[in-house]
Amino acid sequence: MATRLYRQHRLWTKTLNYLIHPAIETTLPSNARVAEIATGAGVWLLAAARYLPDSVSFVGFDSCKSQFPKLDALPKNISFETQNLLKPFHQEHLGTFDLVSLRSMASQLGKEEWELVARNIVLLLKPGGYIQWMEADIEHCTLMQQASQASCESLTLLASSALAYLRSKRKDPSGCRGLPEIFNSLGLEFCAQDTFSSDLDPELRAEFTDIYARTLLGTMGQAGLQLWNGWSCEKVRELERKVFGELETDEVYWRCDFRVVIGRVLVVVKK
Ligand SMILES: C[S@@+](CC[C@H](N)C(=O)[O-])C[C@H]1O[C@@H](n2cnc3c(N)ncnc32)[C@H](O)[C@@H]1O
Repeated sequence: MATRLYRQHRLWTKTLNYLIHPAIETTLPSNARVAEIATGAGVWLLAAARYLPDSVSFVGFDSCKSQFPKLDALPKNISFETQNLLKPFHQEHLGTFDLVSLRSMASQLGKEEWELVARNIVLLLKPGGYIQWMEADIEHCTLMQQASQASCESLTLLASSALAYLRSKRKDPSGCRGLPEIFNSLGLEFCAQDTFSSDLDPELRAEFTDIYARTLLGTMGQAGLQLWNGWSCEKVRELERKVFGELETDEVYWRCDFRVVIGRVLVVVKK
């Protein structure tokens, strides 16, 4: 899993060409506090810590601590804490961050949870602080052909089955499309969205497709374990063999939008 998160991170940063949205980076004070929610292995957070000055401090939050980097290998300005992002954060963190970043939650959140998470995050920010939320619009991934009659039945079946499984678990990956509206409804002062195509750099097409296929196969692995809708582990393994057979032909690739939505909490002007 951690290897996939590192590969995903490289893909994101090569496509966006930034870790921190340019409109945010210029506003960060020298002693900024930066958080990453649902940090996983802390890949983005550690890259941001290498990029920003040592005077900046960093906290990574995740509900599962098994992927956190080893504490003794970390500089003093980086820490990790367990936290369910659907629950209120501890009082000591409220209103203390200049930037809170979040990435790749699309397959984890239900319809109403997108707004709940945004609310919880906004409470972490100082006045003038920024939220940066990065999502691949996986629900609207398209299979692109590079040859006529390219075979893609198994890839198509994989995507439709994995998305159907997620929906059966009440997850709503398309919720990422509503983030600008959610930010506006929460009264964030400045909102902007960058949309990049995952095939912007042709050299990254195969890499995105491989990562996406493995992510969906992971989802179907869960479906197989639960014997969901006639699936079994054996049936998923069989699908996996066919999927990689189709990918080996190099005649199809997946494409989707990478979105970065940013918003700033109102600055309170004292009279
Ligand atoms: C696909 S990983 C993304 C990791 C990281 N954001 C990145 O881009 O490298 C999703 C992460 O969300 C975390 N997660 C899922 N549900 C969560 C919740 N309710 N509260 C906190 N973290 C959660 C998982 O533990 C996992 O680490």
